[in-house]
Amino acid sequence: MTHSVDASSLPDRPRYWNRTCVRSRFFDALSLLLPPGEAFLIDTLEKWRARSALPADTALHAEIDRFIREETAHRQAHERYNESLAAERPAMAAVAQRASRVTDELTRLGLPMQLALVAAFEHLTTVLAEEIGSHAYLIVDDESRPSRLWHWHAREELGHRDVAIDAAACAGIGRGRLMLALLLATAYLATDVLRYTFALCRSDIRAGASRTAMLADAVRFAIGAVPSLLRMTRGWCRYLLAPAG
Ligand SMILES: [Fe+2]
Ligand SMILES: [Fe+2]
Repeated sequence: MTHSVDASSLPDRPRYWNRTCVRSRFFDALSLLLPPGEAFLIDTLEKWRARSALPADTALHAEIDRFIREETAHRQAHERYNESLAAERPAMAAVAQRASRVTDELTRLGLPMQLALVAAFEHLTTVLAEEIGSHAYLIVDDESRPSRLWHWHAREELGHRDVAIDAAACAGIGRGRLMLALLLATAYLATDVLRYTFALCRSDIRAGASRTAMLADAVRFAIGAVPSLLRMTRGWCRYLLAPAG
């Protein structure tokens, strides 16, 4: 199906847009992390391109321009999504604010490690985007605005999937650093998504949602997600074959 997103009109979110509470809150939590995360990707690639004096007439230079354009659009769309999440319930504003600072510590690392982390985060988003695009379990494929936003974002991630790893190869980042960055990025993202999913669900419970029903929903979602996790683990392992400097 064709999805088009007018970022200026996003989003008009139903309360549980992704079928159930826990699976909606899981992607709401991921959305909270995206604007600061995408700012980190953009800033790092811009910084590396300026310092490496990459010639303006190279394909990689143009691909980085496209990457920055697309990540900027994602960032703006998810900021609107997150604003509506915070408006839904004031307690969520504090969670959103905490999430907005998650990449602060990454900017203190050296540029080679930052670049390796950008390549790693892009690989993780590629693996998730492949799953979202090919199976409708994790994210419902319907005409709701959040669903259209996630599918649009996934398609663009697949379109620019090679840019960060090409930049890392061009910068001569070694395989050891790339693998270390992938392990760190995976642990970092998994911990934060789970932490913020928990915080959002707790806010739902405080607003009257049943703790027992939510727990049952979480167990059902986790069990149903096993095939998706296995496919994504295979995708994660592809990184072992990525080019390195
Ligand atoms: Fe993105
Ligand atoms: Fe991306």
